Amino acid sequence: MTTNAPCATIILAAGKGSRMKSKHSKILHQVAGLPLVCHVLKNVAPLKPAKNIVVASPDNCDAVKQTLADFNMTADIAIQQGQNGTAHATASAGQALSGFTSGTVLVLFGDTPFVSADTLNKMLIARENASIVVLGFETNTPTGYGRLVMNGDTLDKITEEKDATPAEKQITLCNSGVMAVDAGYIFDLIEQVNSNNAQGEYYLTDLPQIAKTQGLKTTVVTADMGELQGINSREQLAQAEHAYQTTRRKDAMAEGVTLIDPNTVYFAHDTVVENDVVIEPNVFFGDGVTVKTGATIRAFSHIQGATVGENTIIGPYARLRPGAVLENGAKVGNFVEIKNATIGNGGKVNHLSYIGDATVGAGANIGAGTITCNYDGFNKYKTTIGAGAFVGSNTALVAPVTIGDNAMVGAGSTVTTDVATDDLFVARGTGKTLTHGAKKFRAKSKKS
Ligand code: UD1
Ligand code: CA
Repeated sequence: MTTNAPCATIILAAGKGSRMKSKHSKILHQVAGLPLVCHVLKNVAPLKPAKNIVVASPDNCDAVKQTLADFNMTADIAIQQGQNGTAHATASAGQALSGFTSGTVLVLFGDTPFVSADTLNKMLIARENASIVVLGFETNTPTGYGRLVMNGDTLDKITEEKDATPAEKQITLCNSGVMAVDAGYIFDLIEQVNSNNAQGEYYLTDLPQIAKTQGLKTTVVTADMGELQGINSREQLAQAEHAYQTTRRKDAMAEGVTLIDPNTVYFAHDTVVENDVVIEPNVFFGDGVTVKTGATIRAFSHIQGATVGENTIIGPYARLRPGAVLENGAKVGNFVEIKNATIGNGGKVNHLSYIGDATVGAGANIGAGTITCNYDGFNKYKTTIGAGAFVGSNTALVAPVTIGDNAMVGAGSTVTTDVATDDLFVARGTGKTLTHGAKKFRAKSKKS
């Protein structure tokens, strides 16, 4: 069941995150190459919120804005002046949401990246019978979390760990932090929050108790603790990465991808791998990669911003950098780096080469050690290699340069001028042989 009830989100992201020991804001640290706050925005997208407000601090707001732009995410930014607690942070979004008075406001935490659209949807459905819905979880290790004090299916209040009585500390039903609140009441309720508690902060968790005094009901929806995992330290960041990768590997295999050793393959948040792709151990995907059906990614390859065509073979030890496009059946072998270059259908770059800012035609063969010299220290230049061309080993192609269709370049050449279709180009120093020269050299060297 899904609900069409309108919603808006407030994503709290102004906290200092001091346990990360970082000069960067906590919520900008990444899991699978995507900043935590962007995971939250990505997860809420299926609910089609009327508005997403990210609450930032004066310190991190510029970086948050830049990050959202970098990852093509749209959200309004509200600034929280002074970090006076989660209710205070939520109130900072009041102005940005002033037009949104009918529906549900979902309050989420920027450091809790995995709360799914399914779970949030359950909260929106539960909201039909309650003014507030709190997302909770059961755990045997509740220390540190707010406890949910229930009365039947009604939530009476949330008690923070630091304010809890010994009896309340025994409660194992905990607050994830995510709350769905009637848009008509949320900011009025928040105005009534005070800071009479152990931390002297304005707690969002006071809302259920305040709502109760006004005859408004609060209820709870639960989810698995793994989904509600918050990130406060580098260790938890690594745990979150591990959890994410575990899920992604299982999903990839379920969709028909062979992972010989799943635990050594790392996906990015947006990696697309079609079925019947085989991925050998120790492969890392940066963002922006699509691998088409039938491709084989051999061990120790690093791939980012690349399109890998059908039935291609990559690696071992291949490096595909942004803008690499391998058309169907192409081969890129060991210790080859491809950047901003297209390798045409069936083209081969099998050994120890750098191909950058280039187009390699269908069926062309690039010999071992070929380098496109694309940069003169100031500007980048393009190399074009025609279909069916053969470039001999250890060739330096000094761009801009064009090698015509079916042309050949002799091994060891430095090519500074274009080679026309079907021509053969060689540029080598003439060698000479000194008869018994080696023997004479050794004899002379031993004497002295
Ligand atoms: C909060 C909950 C607690 C819950 C726990 C789950 C409150 C009072 N407590 O505690 O019940 O079990 O989360 O992890 O809500 N933030 C701001 N501005 C502030 C303070 C916080 O934007 O002034 C943001 C932080 O960046 C973070 C989120 O709010 O994303 C949660 O704040 P945090 O201080 O980590 O709350 P907890 O103590 O973990
Ligand atoms: Ca926290």
